[in-house]
Amino acid sequence: MQNSVPAPGPPLDDGFDELDEAWLRSKPGVKWAGAGAGVIPCWVADMDFPTPRPVREALVDLATKGDLGYASGNVPTLLEEKWVARMEARYGWAPQRGRFRLFCDVVQAVQVMVDMATSPGDGILLLTPSYPPLWRAIEGSGRRLLSVPALETGAGWAFDLDTATAQARDAKMLLLANPHNPTGRVLSRPELARLAELADRNRLLVVSDEVHADLVLDDRAHVPFASLSEEMAGRTVTLYSASKSYNLGGMRCAVAHIGPSEVEEQLAALPSEFLGRVSVAATASTMACWTSPADAWLDRCLSRLRANRDILGQWLSGPGADCGVRGFLPEGTYLSWFDFRPAGLGDEPGRWLLEHAKVKLSDGPHFGPGGAGFARLNFATTPGVLEEILSRVARAITDGARAPKNLLSDPH
Ligand SMILES: Cc1ncc(COP(=O)(O)O)c(C=O)c1O
Repeated sequence: MQNSVPAPGPPLDDGFDELDEAWLRSKPGVKWAGAGAGVIPCWVADMDFPTPRPVREALVDLATKGDLGYASGNVPTLLEEKWVARMEARYGWAPQRGRFRLFCDVVQAVQVMVDMATSPGDGILLLTPSYPPLWRAIEGSGRRLLSVPALETGAGWAFDLDTATAQARDAKMLLLANPHNPTGRVLSRPELARLAELADRNRLLVVSDEVHADLVLDDRAHVPFASLSEEMAGRTVTLYSASKSYNLGGMRCAVAHIGPSEVEEQLAALPSEFLGRVSVAATASTMACWTSPADAWLDRCLSRLRANRDILGQWLSGPGADCGVRGFLPEGTYLSWFDFRPAGLGDEPGRWLLEHAKVKLSDGPHFGPGGAGFARLNFATTPGVLEEILSRVARAITDGARAPKNLLSDPH
């Protein structure tokens, strides 16, 4: 008996350069399905591109074989092998074997670490503004958010490491997102070394969310925090997933490397079903990502993202600047963090733009300290869609500035 794998339905190929609007609008996921009539969504961190073909084929294969039962016990070991090889090949880091765990997603793993390894009232250092679930994981559990603010330098964003050093005395944990969402900063080795020094001096647990590691746009590699030194490897829980770089956020599978033995012991002491299990579809998709055909997809995707970043750069120095939008180009991720304060759109420019420009960005206040007056734009789309988003933004602000005053002070 033979199973043939039917070709997945349209759109068949990558669609990095062009995508049919009707296809985009028919997508059932939260990004497009939730966009109102005529609105272009560029908020949630899903890419517009179709999921890579190797992933679609793996899922079709799974369904065709007709076995969606419980995963075989050797799946975590197979994934660990692929993941360790990937870390070695891409980042020159040899993770310690036997310290690998699967979680349903990165945010779940962050929340588990916050709850398990700190107590209410403990301080947790976080680079801010921040991907919303990270600061919510801290504040929602009654821990104290110790904000390490992004400061504007002539060349871009730099996190205030002097403040981090002063606050670290009062901290139990450093929760790091690198590459950083929403600024798109990819921390340099010297910046990471300063954070490592303060983690060491203050005996902090480091939870390093590296979900965007594969999405570095500049010509340099991401540095895993645990690769900095033996000491850091022993202090750091590294979190990683295929979800951002291969566009499968809905599949729910993340991996964790647990450096500190105490954390491993705490995890082992949890009731065995407390954390749930990752599905066969999630692990099959992740496995399909960590192969050379999927890496070829990632390379093409990165080329598109770099070209889109160039479009953003031209816009920021032209029409964007003319209408009072400022921003620095991201070094990684597919997210850009725009300052709309000079345009006078109020604390929630995303709200204003949704109403007046029919584009949906992620509004700044959701990103915690430092978010008011900013919004995040997801540029993982085709150049045509990106250009339309940018021209709608510029047009709405310019028209708004010409309109009676109350349009710009509109509280929406
Ligand atoms: C820094 C960061 N961590 C985690 C996530 C989400 O990962 P997951 O869906 O695996 O929880 C995102 C998504 O955009 C993110 O930007």
